[in-house]
Amino acid sequence: MTSVYEGKIAIVTGGTSGIGYAVSEELLKRGATVWVIGSRKESVEKAKASLAGYKKARYAAVDVTIADEVKGMIETCVREDGRLDYLFNNAGIGMTHPSRHLTLDMWKKAIDLNLWGVVYGVHYALPVMLAQKSGHIVNTSSVAGITAPPAQTVYCATKYAVTGMTEALRYEFFEEGITFTTVCPANVATAIFAGTEIPKEAIPADEAARIILAGVEKKEGLIIFPEFAKKLYERFLADPVLKEKFMLEYARRRNAGWESGIPYLGVPDDLLDM
Ligand SMILES: NC(=O)c1ccc[n+]([C@@H]2O[C@H](COP(=O)([O-])OP(=O)(O)OC[C@H]3O[C@@H](n4cnc5c(N)ncnc54)[C@H](OP(=O)(O)O)[C@@H]3O)[C@@H](O)[C@H]2O)c1
Repeated sequence: MTSVYEGKIAIVTGGTSGIGYAVSEELLKRGATVWVIGSRKESVEKAKASLAGYKKARYAAVDVTIADEVKGMIETCVREDGRLDYLFNNAGIGMTHPSRHLTLDMWKKAIDLNLWGVVYGVHYALPVMLAQKSGHIVNTSSVAGITAPPAQTVYCATKYAVTGMTEALRYEFFEEGITFTTVCPANVATAIFAGTEIPKEAIPADEAARIILAGVEKKEGLIIFPEFAKKLYERFLADPVLKEKFMLEYARRRNAGWESGIPYLGVPDDLLDM
């Protein structure tokens, strides 16, 4: 059966590692032309070597925190491939840190990448898609963009912003044939956990990619995964008292983790029966 992605033109920022790499490879397998984007030449070269078997892969080093580079990325794609069907604004960094020790540089770094990187992508891709009268922009937020874990102050600020802007855009441009999707992963085993232990509930990136592409194919507004995170989010919506208890215990564990020198990054799913 032909895939809906067959023959389509896609850009995946943060395509050189983790979730973005897996999404890029899955799109290539399904017959799309994919611009695989990283900010560092080395990461782009590495992705190029491992995706060498795919003839429709394109590569570019683009720093998405720089508006002109994002503009150039979109112009190059349209000039060389004639159109842009999918933009995955996926590049991002994690930040779990005790809030009292945050520096303004940390705030700036995360906002520049996680929020402005997405803003620039939307800003330059939207006119192209409006002219085409079609297109799909997929912005990577996080479960931390719909619920706020303790010690993720900066990360939540950026990801809630991404969720909000994407949802607002989805309704505004629906009638014009442009689709917006917010992707909300919980833990996926990627380099985002470099230097710390990968949480036990983390799923592999290739599984994340298949979930994302299934939701994008159905033009879903919000793709929340893995399943445990989706169920937890739904339980919190239905039961705010449970959410408050869960989050306070989560904060207690995280605070104790910082004090002991062993950060607690997992999800306290043992509390779900409380
Ligand atoms: N993994 C998770 O558990 C998880 C959970 C929730 C949300 N997310 C979100 O999912 C997205 C992907 O995360 P990941 O876990 O796959 O991370 P990852 O493996 O660390 O990959 C990050 C990617 O972003 C690129 N990147 C970093 N800075 C960039 C910049 N200034 N311009 C362009 N590209 C840049 C990196 O390439 P270079 O090294 O070349 O810069 C790399 O390709 C992020 O938005 C993250 O917040 C992840």
